[in-house]
Formats: sequence, C-alpha cells, structure tokens
Amino acid sequence: MPDTLTPDIRRRARFLADELTRHNYRYYVLDDPEIADSEYDRLMKELGDLEQRWPELVTPDSPTHRVGAPPLSKFVSVPHSLPMLSLDNAFNDDDIFEFERRIRRILKTTAPIPYMVEPKMDGVAVELIYRDGLLAQAATRGDGFVGEDITANVRTIRALPLRLSVPADGAVPATLEVRGEIFIHREAFRQFNRERIAAELPPFANPRNAAAGSLRQLDSQVTAQRPLNIFCYGIGVMQGDVPASQSELLARLKMFGLPVNPLVQSCRMIEEVLAVYRELEARRETLPYDIDGMVIKVDARALQDQLGTTARSPRWAIAYKFKAIQATTWLEAIEVQVGRTGALTPVAHLTPVSVGGVVVSRATLHNQDEIDRKDVRIGDTVLVQRAGDVIPEVVMPVVSKRRGDERRFRMPDVCPSCGASVVRTEGEIALRCFNADCPAQLKERIRHFASKNAFDIDGLGEKLVDQLVSRGLVASFPDLFGLEAADLAGLDRMAERSAANLIAALQASKTISFDRFIFALGIRHVGEHVARVLAKHFPGVAALQAADRDALEAIEGIGPIVAASVASFFGREENTEMIRRLLDSGVQITMDQAEPDTHLSGLTFVLTGTLARMSRAQAQGLIEAAGGKVTGSVSRKTDYVVAGTSPGSKIDKARQLNVAVIDEARLWEMLGA
Ligand code: IVH
Repeated sequence: MPDTLTPDIRRRARFLADELTRHNYRYYVLDDPEIADSEYDRLMKELGDLEQRWPELVTPDSPTHRVGAPPLSKFVSVPHSLPMLSLDNAFNDDDIFEFERRIRRILKTTAPIPYMVEPKMDGVAVELIYRDGLLAQAATRGDGFVGEDITANVRTIRALPLRLSVPADGAVPATLEVRGEIFIHREAFRQFNRERIAAELPPFANPRNAAAGSLRQLDSQVTAQRPLNIFCYGIGVMQGDVPASQSELLARLKMFGLPVNPLVQSCRMIEEVLAVYRELEARRETLPYDIDGMVIKVDARALQDQLGTTARSPRWAIAYKFKAIQATTWLEAIEVQVGRTGALTPVAHLTPVSVGGVVVSRATLHNQDEIDRKDVRIGDTVLVQRAGDVIPEVVMPVVSKRRGDERRFRMPDVCPSCGASVVRTEGEIALRCFNADCPAQLKERIRHFASKNAFDIDGLGEKLVDQLVSRGLVASFPDLFGLEAADLAGLDRMAERSAANLIAALQASKTISFDRFIFALGIRHVGEHVARVLAKHFPGVAALQAADRDALEAIEGIGPIVAASVASFFGREENTEMIRRLLDSGVQITMDQAEPDTHLSGLTFVLTGTLARMSRAQAQGLIEAAGGKVTGSVSRKTDYVVAGTSPGSKIDKARQLNVAVIDEARLWEMLGA
C-alpha cells in the first residue's frame, strides 16, 4: 500500500462503500444477491483495511462501522418532531364501512375513494431520521411524543441503508424522517430461541417480544447478533417535495433504498380493500413473519390532509385486525397420551377458549424438557397459541397470576396404558413405551391404519377402535378383516345395520394403492410423502420387504433415519407375518395409483424469494415429484414464477415476458397440498 492517501484511494474507498451498500440491499432486502458471500467478504475486508490504514476514510455510513459504538449506560430521550400516532382498530367489515362513511361525511363525497393497503407488521415501531441522506438518528415510539434514542442498535440492521440511494430523478431530502416497523422473521426467531435454550437463557414468547428485547440492549454488539429486520411505511417530516399519495411515497422510499413490504397494494375502492383483506388473512400463516392485521390508508395526501387526525390517530387510516392466534386460559390438568409409535406426550387440558376463531381445549406440552423449560404448572393461567392446522401449544405460564397452589408435573416412569417401564433413548427427548402389545399404541396404530389417507375404512371411528381393542377382538391389523357381524353385535351403539355397513366398508377398503398401503403400516418416519417415494421405487411389497438399509438409503429422497426405520420394520418376524395375513385375507395392492404423479408434467417453474413453508430446494423436490420442472431463470418457456417474500428481479423479468406470477399459497394448491 502506498504511504500517502491519494485521490485514487479515496475513490476506491467510496466505490467499495457504495458497492457494499448496493450488495447489502440485494442480499437483505431483495433476497437476490448478485455476488457470492465470499466476494462480499472480500470487498468488506478491502474497505476495512483501507480504513484502518487511513482512519480519515471512515464515514458515518461506512458499511464496516454498523457495530462498534460503546455500550450505553441508559437510553437518551428524544422528542419526535411530529407525534407518532397510533391507529384505530376495526374488527369486522361493518367497522370498515363505518370508517368510510365517516370519511365521506367529512369529505362530502360519494365518489369511490382509492386506498393503499399494507400488512400490519407485528413488531416494534421506530422513527429513522436521515440528514443529507445519512442515517443520523433512530428512536422508539415511546409515548408517541418522546421516544428513546436507539441509533446504535438500529444501525446494526443489515436491511437498512446507512446512506440513502439517490434516485435517478433527483436528490435525497435534506431531512427525511422515516417510520417503520422492526421485526424478526419467524424462522430466525425459532432458531434464535433454540440457541437461547441451549445457552440456558429464557426464550422469548414471540418474535415481537424478541425484537423489542433486542432493541432494548444497551450494548449494540448484542443487538448486532439478533436477526432484526425492518419495513418502512410512512414519514414524519420530509423536506422538499412530499409525494402526493401513500403509494407514491412508498415507491419513493423504495427508490431511496429503504425496505418496503412487497405485499402493499393499491385498491380503487373499499370493496377491493375487503377482498385483499380476505386474501391476506388466508395467506397469513404462510408468510415468513407475523402480521396482526392490515392497515388501510386513504391514498391521496390531499384527502389525508383534509381528514386530519384526532389526538390519538389519523382519520384517514385504520387497522383491520386479524383474530388473535394467542389467548390466555386456565390449565386444568395434564394427561399423558401414548402415540402410535409409543411416544409419550403430555397434553394440557384447558378451560375452553377461542383462539383465532377456533375453540381450543387441549394443547400439546411436547415433553418434560419443554414443561421444565417453560415452568408450566398444573393450575397455571397459560398463554396458548395455534397457527393454522398445527396442534395448539402452550407458550408459557402467566406467572403474575399464580396463587401458590399450582403443582409441578412429572412424566410417569411407566406407560399410562400398559404399565410397562418407559425408556428415554439416547439422543431423543421423548419417553417411549416399547411394549409391542401396549393397547394405547395398538389403538393409535389401528386408527392410523383405518384413516382417510390409509385404508380409509368408513365407520371405524375412535370409539369403535377403543372397544375392538379393549375387548380383544382386534390385536393386529389383519384381525380387522376377520371381523364378522356376530363379533360386532355385542358392542355399544352397534346396531345390526351399522355392523353390516362396517363389514362392507372393510371389504371395500381391501383394494388399496401401494403408497397408501405403505403409509397405513404406520412405520416410524414414514409419512405420506415417503410412502409415495417408496411405492414409486419398488415394484411391489415383496421387493420392499427384501430391501436392506443400504438399498433404501440409495433412493433419492430417503435419508439414513428413514432407511433404518423401514429396514428394521420389515426385518421383524411379526411384521412379515402380519403382512402375509393381510394379503391372505384378501388385501389387493394395486400398482396403478402409485404410478408417478404427473399432474404438473410439462410445466416449468422458477422460484424466487423466500418461501414460508419450506426451502426452495424442498419446493423444487415437490414440484419435480409431481412431474414439473424447475429452472433457475425466467424465459419464454417458463410457465410460472413462484414469488415468495422479497422476490428478486425475476419478477420483473416475468412481467416483461408476460409469464404468470403466482404466490406460494397458489403453488401449494397446485401441488395439491
Ligand atoms: S401506519 C399514523 N402502517 O401499527 C399511522 N402502521 O397502531 C401510523 N404498524 O404503531 C401507523 N405496520 O407500529 C402503519 N403498514 C403499517 C404498519 C403500522 C405496523 C404498526 C405501527 C403503529 C401501529 C398502529
């Protein structure tokens, strides 16, 4: 390196800083990096080396200096130049119509009113002040008038530019106060909580609490380790030309390089707003982050100004809330259930409570470790949550509601069904009952065998299975097909007619496709997907039974754990015997339905952005399993571009070429999931 700081070196440093800012945006905001991580690291190191040699090169927006401010002893208060208001809430369509009626009254108009609608991020509100394009200050909302200075912490958020980009058509405002919501992606939150648990730290209840806790750190080095993210949605003071509408404002913020939620939409009138609300609500669970509703804003700034604000909130905007997916209730008791594979699961019995529109009276507590970690006790008031069709779970106890008579719970040493000693196998958290004749396991296995996606035996419900097993009429799958009307006659609520129906249903179920047959056996780790993979690979049940671990592991899509489980299942004498008896009793395995799934054949997909339910690689696997093709770039041959969140430039390409862009929910529909 030369000794003197030449103009060339200055230029190089500026170039590196700009490049790094640009790549940062592509990586953290667009999720569409242009260069490899190693190349990014190389640029960062080059800039760092230059700055170390000539400290005068360090600028306030240097990408090397996101972290590094000394820890604070307390946060300093900062007044907001314009108050940070909150929003009125709407809980149903009538509230929304009332919102519009008020607007019409004030504006004295009957014409349709255009709105901008935005997901309501469930995070922490902040104000960012950019002076001459540089991030100068960040503050919490506080009481709306005075917040706390959290600049050092906010600088660590990689998705946020330390310097605004200059749009092609002009300059950046001398002062720009941007408002937005800081949040954490669900998956990053789960990972973060796992790490906290491993470090014996208390986990956070939800991503919002984790985001708030991270911003409250006095040492920004700590905050820098937290996976914070941000979407910007509004402004305070903006010097110069203020865009004439919310939609133009968001476009402008994007041009400055600020992250804006890609799911924002313009609506021409209130009916459209309601339609978008329903779509968003349906997609809610598949988004990679939590939202608690939709914010509806009158688009035109001139109308916003006419409408004005109340002391609390603007009259031109409202939050249409979704139903909460968390609720508190009372934990009355804990019951231990024995699953099909012998795993013991503690289940909480709750005072019924409505969570997101569904009444919940039971929730899983997973295992003893989870109970201990959360310190959940019988008699506690607890926070429960449900997400989509996932089993509801107990999040945590509300410790402040304890009265002292709550009881700790311990998992039993013996199986609650058969009394056999339970075992905790190495590397596993769950306790298991290994008694092959355990009635609870048998009941669960029979239920699974008869279930919709297995043998689909009509009329063989839970109560009936209980009776058949308890009375010793059924001790294994083949016994089902040996049942006669006379056996059923003595059972509770079993009329002659229903007995005949059940016998007919059993008979009808005997013809079954290979994949369903495999699934029905209830082999550990073999769900419907694996069953299909196996059925596709083997010409028949004999070949599957003969396959050893290595042969199974060699199959695309079968890992070592599944291979071991399948080989061990078919290696057991009693299972060979059971399958022989099934076939003897007339079970016919048809190979045609297990034919490769081709319903997407001839279709080419391109995936972009982050998918909520699984990785892109997994989605590719599913598309290919259904006969479709996945390619890396959009061309005229592409049929669908699947846009996850923060999709990349592939979307623009798709629009140019007139290729259909679909969202993740639509992909799952197409996959039949
Ligand atoms: S606009 C004056 N837009 O919801 C209106 N708020 O109670 C200011 N929020 O504190 C809010 N997403 O933290 C707006 N797209 C969005 C939002 C949003 C989340 C939060 C914000 C605010 C609260 C309103």
